[in-house]
Amino acid sequence: MDAGGRIEAALDMAVARAEAPGAPPRLAEAIRYAVFPGGHRIRPRLCLAVARACGDDDPEASDAAAGAIELLHCASLVHDDLPCFDDAPMRRQKPSVHVAFGEPLAVLTGDALIVLAFDTLARGAARRPSRLAALVGLVARAVGSPAGICAGQAWESEPTVALSDYQQAKTGALFAAATVAGATAAGEAALPWRLLGECLGEAYQVADDLRDVACRQEEIGKPAGRDVTLGRPNAAALLGMGGAIERLRRLCRDAIEVIPDCPGAEALRAEITAQTRLFLPASLRLAPA
Ligand code: IPE
Ligand code: IPE
Ligand code: MG
Ligand code: MG
Repeated sequence: MDAGGRIEAALDMAVARAEAPGAPPRLAEAIRYAVFPGGHRIRPRLCLAVARACGDDDPEASDAAAGAIELLHCASLVHDDLPCFDDAPMRRQKPSVHVAFGEPLAVLTGDALIVLAFDTLARGAARRPSRLAALVGLVARAVGSPAGICAGQAWESEPTVALSDYQQAKTGALFAAATVAGATAAGEAALPWRLLGECLGEAYQVADDLRDVACRQEEIGKPAGRDVTLGRPNAAALLGMGGAIERLRRLCRDAIEVIPDCPGAEALRAEITAQTRLFLPASLRLAPA
């Protein structure tokens, strides 16, 4: 099975557990709605690409890591769209979870997805206790505080924050977890893989900021212009379009340079180069540097 197929299968297996007999039907429906159909699935792809570069000797563990990371990402989107955060009525070209199911179920959907992510890890890596322990810790840190998604979102409630610190916490941390988890699931040293994830995560958030400023809702499937309206730090607003595109290019170049030596490094470089070319929608790719 290719990476895309492995990711969808891992997610489907996890979501099916939340739909088991006895589950509140509307919560079960909302959980599936939040995960399928997916968006870019870029974090689990990155996780599996790194696992493959490291030999991928336990695909069950790497599938679980990739699935858990995407479930956490989906949870973060459900909560991010809530009226008390970005108040976004649309996500992935359809009504946000709170619009479709109401706020109480949206809060619970996010909560349930977070728990399901750790359950997925526990099941998939159970035969490798030392890898499992490392995976649980690194994934937990990527979504918590002081340096994960909770911290990143919480910076929006503080009077000031440096752009890079904000983007590293809200987006970079989960990308770094994806690369580090890919290596860990394959039994390789994790530390050398962190920088690659951090560079890609920050690049991805800069691209998201550019989309927010320069694209239309129909193109990106979620509201545009949200960051200015909400007063969020945004790379394009702070550096200008040219400055943000230059930062994006530099981060993508850095990402390729920091790929650690490993048997699959050449193929991984090619894959990441191809992926980063798609970070910006076609309408922005010709913008001047
Ligand atoms: C959106 O991420 C939120 C950010 C951190 C930029 P994605 O662009 O990966 O969202 P989906 O999964 O494709 O919808
Ligand atoms: C995304 O932040 C990071 C999360 C933790 C969800 P944004 O608010 O910038 O992402 P979008 O633009 O809504 O996808
Ligand atoms: Mg937000
Ligand atoms: Mg948002």
